[in-house]
Amino acid sequence: PVAAFPKRLARVARHDAKVLRTSARWLVTSREHHNYTYELTKLSRHHLAWFVSVVCDLPVKQVRGYLDEIESDDKLRRHIETAIAGAARRGLADKRVRYARRIGWYAIVRATRPTHVVETGVDKGLGSCVLAAALLRNAAEGHPGRVTSLDINPEAGYLARTAPWSEVVDLVIGDSIASIAALDRPVDLFLHDSDHSRAHEKREFEAVETKLAPGAILLTDNVTATNVLAEHAERTGRRFLAYRETPANHWYPGDGIGVAW
Ligand SMILES: C[S@@+](CC[C@H](N)C(=O)[O-])C[C@H]1O[C@@H](n2cnc3c(N)ncnc32)[C@H](O)[C@@H]1O
Repeated sequence: PVAAFPKRLARVARHDAKVLRTSARWLVTSREHHNYTYELTKLSRHHLAWFVSVVCDLPVKQVRGYLDEIESDDKLRRHIETAIAGAARRGLADKRVRYARRIGWYAIVRATRPTHVVETGVDKGLGSCVLAAALLRNAAEGHPGRVTSLDINPEAGYLARTAPWSEVVDLVIGDSIASIAALDRPVDLFLHDSDHSRAHEKREFEAVETKLAPGAILLTDNVTATNVLAEHAERTGRRFLAYRETPANHWYPGDGIGVAW
């Protein structure tokens, strides 16, 4: 063990130095203090395409087309850049638009063409915009749908208050459990991304169960932190899969997408 020590030290020092360099760069170049944004590594994007392909039972080539579609949606990108530049809290947001795992949400909506999507947790509305962009494309192909976006913060969702995206987004302010209980249309796709505590995530999946349309898909943004959706899937006789994203050039280890269907 003593002979191997210098080699082991060099290995771990190289790794930690890289994390420190990335962290230092982020501290001076980014303004974000939570809900970090970043690109996925190339490999992580490849794996995301396969993940969606398996879950939605579609050729991976078609899924890659959906990922390309959202990434080359310049109209949405420009809208987000402009809205962030003019926002009161612009000092806490980065100028560059980076969707990370949300491109997977986009591909799932494009692949499954839901009539009603519910997203809990909106923050600025980046995810709501991505979901709305997918729903607008679906509508143009003859499959209209809407997203109900739930947040407890009245200031949430400023990115999703501009047309055409706002035309398919219903922002609901209040605690997500009460808002889920008040849903009056069946839910085809449900995404948990609000209070990431284990207890709240569990309460959301329990609350939405009676609101689901047959064959509904459940997503969680909390899959790298809890096993809540996997346990819910087992209890309710669904399949479950988890994708763990890898951010490019960021110190944050990343989140993921958990899916039960
Ligand atoms: C991680 S952010 C959502 C990110 C967003 N989905 C996106 O794509 O960028 C979490 C949000 O959940 C909201 N939130 C926290 N607790 C909540 C609750 N009990 N009910 C509804 N929203 C809640 C917060 O106000 C915050 O805006």
